Amino acid sequence: MLVTSVVGARPQFVKLAPMCRAFKELGIEHHIVHTGQHYDLNMSDSFFEELNIPAPDHHLGVGSGSHGIQTGSMLQELDPIFLDTKPDCVLAYGDTNSTIAAALSAVKLHIGLAHLEAGLRSFNRRMPEEHNRVLTDHAADLCLAPTELAIKNLAHEGLSEKSILTGDVMTDVCLQTARKVEGQQLFAIEDLPDGKFALATIHRADNTDDAEQLSDIINQLKQLSIPVLLTAHPRLVAKCKDHGISLSSPNLRVVDPLPYPILVNTVQRAELVITDSGGLQKEAFLLRTPCITLRTETEWVETINLGWNVLCSQRGAIESSMASLAPADTSATPYGDGAAAIATAHAIKKKFA
Ligand code: UD1
Repeated sequence: MLVTSVVGARPQFVKLAPMCRAFKELGIEHHIVHTGQHYDLNMSDSFFEELNIPAPDHHLGVGSGSHGIQTGSMLQELDPIFLDTKPDCVLAYGDTNSTIAAALSAVKLHIGLAHLEAGLRSFNRRMPEEHNRVLTDHAADLCLAPTELAIKNLAHEGLSEKSILTGDVMTDVCLQTARKVEGQQLFAIEDLPDGKFALATIHRADNTDDAEQLSDIINQLKQLSIPVLLTAHPRLVAKCKDHGISLSSPNLRVVDPLPYPILVNTVQRAELVITDSGGLQKEAFLLRTPCITLRTETEWVETINLGWNVLCSQRGAIESSMASLAPADTSATPYGDGAAAIATAHAIKKKFA
């Protein structure tokens, strides 16, 4: 049995890592296709190295572009690979343009399709990720859901029969990594004592494309009552340049995106996370660091319900959101107990072998 994973963007490399190990454990042949959506060293290769992911079997080298061009270029490259290698199952991850390209190519070639991280919904149709995940769920033969709520969302759309609750594979990696790096100081941050800084990331189109919105967020970070370590996604750097927004300020330390173990270690050491990333909100919860999410909604509502995350979409409201955070100790495990990858591999084997 051959399973082909299609990945291309940073969060997908994190999810791929435990799946590689799980397929190996079950003796399932596994190929990796890297679309090349992310290509910078610290957005791609560093994850393969740090998380011990085998080199991709195919690299499409697609790079950046508009949604149509990026997705279309991937489709053009995926078809011949799937025709040649004939996987029993194509495994698509999450909600990026690499996900929808994998899904479209597989279903049109009548190849089995499984969707990992199925059933998440923001109900915000402005987000490219929402189109990608809804369409992929509906195209898939097997929907692998990370949470009970995702299962409910799938049921609501009539997809129950092909859906299964596996837990969240990102939780597997996060917890394993956290155990390895706990108590260390993997990243020396000048003048930022442990527990006394905020870690910030911003990259979503909704926050970066509009000059006023981005300028408001950056100005707030500059004036926040605690210093901010900003790990700058290339999209953020590019948009700040386009909009003429300076990232220089005594309150801001701007660094390149961090390798995964260093990111986990830095979240452990931070007082607070401020982000518009889906994955980082959840990682903050798993590591019990409070989080402010710069969005109008989240797919990971459990983090909000448990008090560890607050949404902040009003201009100028980050400081007041900090005051409204009220996290309470919890032993809840809404994202599973760290064994989702093996459950996912078993479900795939049962369906497609
Ligand atoms: C993509 C995903 C998003 C995910 C994010 C994680 C889609 C629609 N969005 O957004 O869901 O949360 O990845 O990071 O697929 N760039 C570089 N080097 C790189 C990658 C990107 O310079 O290695 C720059 C380019 O200017 C590019 C821009 O970042 O145009 C955006 O990259 P892209 O992959 O299109 O989307 P992300 O914002 O990363």
